[in-house]
Amino acid sequence: MKIGIIGCGNMGMAFANSFIQYNLVQKEDLLLIEKSAGRGDVLREQKAGVVVDTISSSLGEVDLIILSVKPQDFPAAASEIQKYIQPNQLVLSIMAGIPISKIQESISHPLIIRAMPNTPALLGMGMTAFAAAAEVGLSDIRKVENLINSTGRAVFLEQEDLLDAVTAASGSGPAYFFYLVKQMIDAGVAMGFDPAMSALLIKQTMLGSYHLMQTSDKTLDELIQAVASKGGTTEAALKTFMEQGVGEGLKNGIFAAQKRAKELAG
Ligand SMILES: NC(=O)c1ccc[n+]([C@@H]2O[C@H](COP(=O)([O-])OP(=O)(O)OC[C@H]3O[C@@H](n4cnc5c(N)ncnc54)[C@H](OP(=O)(O)O)[C@@H]3O)[C@@H](O)[C@H]2O)c1
Repeated sequence: MKIGIIGCGNMGMAFANSFIQYNLVQKEDLLLIEKSAGRGDVLREQKAGVVVDTISSSLGEVDLIILSVKPQDFPAAASEIQKYIQPNQLVLSIMAGIPISKIQESISHPLIIRAMPNTPALLGMGMTAFAAAAEVGLSDIRKVENLINSTGRAVFLEQEDLLDAVTAASGSGPAYFFYLVKQMIDAGVAMGFDPAMSALLIKQTMLGSYHLMQTSDKTLDELIQAVASKGGTTEAALKTFMEQGVGEGLKNGIFAAQKRAKELAG
């Protein structure tokens, strides 16, 4: 399989590197189209694939085109893509907020799959949900699913409009996690730990708690109760969270992200 990636930044290269790591594509079959001269030079130095700086006729030679430019750069890229795209080529967009119908219209091409990954894809631990245009066949959906699985986990959505909720839940999710960890580390520093000590205490606690959650047969409520004894310290913290609406605030933040995703989709 030959793959062309338009926009080889963080996300585009997270995908490219996973494909290479799992032998799903060979470097000589990986066309990396990157506008930024500095970034293009780095990719050439790394021998990451066949690196070019503009969309040209070579785009017509790949089986799958991955769109990973920023959404605001898409209109400019679309007019170039339209010149070279071939009828049988499959397009996978990982751009946030641009609906399948808009991509189809912009590049005059029906075969579009739209995915929403997240940054742990950089480590092969991503979570990606994807949806396909009605014109895309099952075997193409499977091909893309196999590719995405090399970046972490993939789930197929029958309904494209759920991708806004995916954006708000798992797409932005890593930032919520880092935000929570930061608040906990800051609290540790305020209680007198030096920052490195506080970071160690909190990060190891998050790691251990994640694995406990994944391996335990207890529900999340039961796991909370197992830490929070009656009249104890954890209960004091949980009571304060409740009084200050921490849980509600978090949920409202996620709903705000979903609303913004819908607005961006237009
Ligand atoms: N980061 C995330 O957490 C995340 C999560 C889910 C989805 N996404 C989506 O992934 C996409 C890429 O995000 P990113 O964080 O990887 O962005 P990024 O690091 O800025 O990478 C995009 C690259 O594309 C280049 N580019 C722009 N127009 C181009 C063109 N016409 N031809 C070739 N290259 C072009 C940019 O060059 P210049 O810098 O010179 O413009 C830049 O190097 C976005 O659409 C975003 O919505 C990101």
